[in-house]
Amino acid sequence: MNPNGMESGGEGSGVPREVPGSYGVPYVSAIRDRLDFYYNQGQDKYFESRVQKYGSTVVRINVPPGPFMARDPRVVAVLDAKSFPVLFDVTKVEKKDLFTGTYMPSTALTGGYRVCSYLDPAEPTHAKVKQMLFSLLASRKDAFIPAFRSHFSSLLATVESQLLLAGKSDFNKLNDATSFEFIGDAYFGVLPSASELGATGPAKAAKWLIWQLHPLVTLGLPRFLEEPLLHTFHLPPFLVKGDYKALYNYFFAAAAKALDDAESLGLKRDEACHNLLFATVFNSYGGLKVLLPGVLSRIAAAGEKFHQRLAKEVRAAVADAGGKVTMAALEKMELTKSAVWEALRLDPPVKFQYGRAKTDLSIESHDAVFAVKKGEMLFGYQPCATKDPRVFGATAAEFVGDRFVGEEGSKLLRYVYWSNGRETDSPSVANKQCPGKNLVVLVGRLLVVELFLRYDTFTADVGTDLLGTKVEFTAVTKATSGPDA
Ligand code: HEM
Repeated sequence: MNPNGMESGGEGSGVPREVPGSYGVPYVSAIRDRLDFYYNQGQDKYFESRVQKYGSTVVRINVPPGPFMARDPRVVAVLDAKSFPVLFDVTKVEKKDLFTGTYMPSTALTGGYRVCSYLDPAEPTHAKVKQMLFSLLASRKDAFIPAFRSHFSSLLATVESQLLLAGKSDFNKLNDATSFEFIGDAYFGVLPSASELGATGPAKAAKWLIWQLHPLVTLGLPRFLEEPLLHTFHLPPFLVKGDYKALYNYFFAAAAKALDDAESLGLKRDEACHNLLFATVFNSYGGLKVLLPGVLSRIAAAGEKFHQRLAKEVRAAVADAGGKVTMAALEKMELTKSAVWEALRLDPPVKFQYGRAKTDLSIESHDAVFAVKKGEMLFGYQPCATKDPRVFGATAAEFVGDRFVGEEGSKLLRYVYWSNGRETDSPSVANKQCPGKNLVVLVGRLLVVELFLRYDTFTADVGTDLLGTKVEFTAVTKATSGPDA
C-alpha cells in the first residue's frame, strides 16, 4: 500500500469550491441537529449521513451543544484523513478557548485561570505550562512502569476474586479507582488515597469532569430531563467548589517539587497548581478512564488466537530482558504496539477537535479543494478521519491487530491522529499535540503486557459507557507458561 498515493487524488488541485452543507434556521435547526446527534441518529450516523447527503467529506454543519450554551454552533467539518490535519497546523488555525468546542466551561472550575488546553501556542503561558509538564513527565519516567505494574496487577487480582465470587468483574469501575491512584503515584510519588482525599478522589474528579463535559454527553435519562439539565445551560460551578478544593489541596502538597520547578519557569505557584490539576485529572485521568476500557475491549474481541500471538510476543521479550518489563522489552513488542495503535485509531478517546481559521484558507479533501474564510470554526470528528477507507482500505472499520507491523504497516502511523497530531510527529511547546503522547501509548502497551503475562486468554462483555466503552471480564485463563519458559 502506498498511503501517500492514497492521500492524493480527485480534483485536489482545482479552484477552491464553496463548502457544501447548510446550517438551517438559526436556533431551531441547531436544536433539531442536537437532538439528532444525541438521540435520533447518534454521533457516527450524525456525521456519516451529512457526508452522504452532500457528497463531500468537508461539509457545513451545526455541532452540539448549540443554544444556549454555545454562541455559534456553525462549523466547517473535516471528515476524512486528508483534510483533518489542517487542525494540527497552528499556522493555519487558532486554538484559543476551543478545547471543548463551541462552548467553554467557566474558568471558576479551574481557579479563575484559562489552563493550558485552552491556550493558543502564541500565548506566552502556553509554552511555560507545557514545558512544566514535559519536565514533570521526564523527571518521573522511571516511575511509570513499576507504578503501573503494581497498581494494575492488584486490579487483576481483584478481577480474579470477583470472577470467582460473581462470575463477572466490572473493569471500568476498578479502572476508575486504580488509574487515579496510578497517576498520583507515577507523577508525584504520593498516593491520593494516603492523602486527606482518602478514597474520595475518583468520585470528586468524576463530578468535576461532568461539570465541564455535560454539554457533550447523555446519561441515558429521558430527553425532556437531559435537554434542560445537561445541554442548555451550564451547571453552576459553586456546586463542585468543595470537591475541587479538596483535589487542589492534594496537588498543592503532593506536587511541591513540580511547583518549585514551575516557579523557576516563571509561572505563579497557584496558576501552575491549577494547571497540574487539570493536566492530571482532566487530561490524564479523564483520558485513561476512556483509553484503557477501549484497548481492553478491542483486545477482548480479537479472540483467543490473537491472544496467543500477543502472549508469545510479550513473554519472549520479557524473558529476553531477564524476566523484567523494561522500555527496551516493550520496544521489541511489534504486535503489542500495533494492537494499541489500532485501538487508538478505531476509538480515539478524544473524538472532537476544533480550530479557528487564522486567514482565508484552502482545505483539501481527497476529492476537492474548498475555500474557508478567516474566522470560521473548523471541526474534526476523528473517527471519520481515522477510519477513512481511502487510507485504510476495505478493513478501515475493523480491528486488524497487526495493521501497523513492519515497514509497510508503520507507514500508516501518520494517519493515526488520537494525540491531536500525527503519530509520527512529536508534541512541542510550539504546537498543540498532546504532551502525554508517549505516556499514553506506554500505558496502553503495559495493560496488554500485564494481561498476557498473567493470562493465556480472557473473555469480556463489551457495551457503552458515558464517555466510551464499558467492559466486564467474564473469564480469564491463567498463563500456562511464564516469561522464562
Ligand atoms: C491535549 C488527547 C492524555 C496532557 C490533548 C489533545 C488531545 C489529547 C486530542 C488536543 C486537544 C485539542 O487541542 O483539540 C489525550 C488522550 C489521552 C491524553 C486521548 C489519554 C488517553 C494526556 C496525558 C497528559 C495530557 C497523560 C499529561 C500531561 C495534555 C495537555 C494538552 C493535551 C496539557 C494541551 C496541549 C497544548 O495545549 O499544547 N490531549 N491526552 N494528555 N493533553 Fe492529552
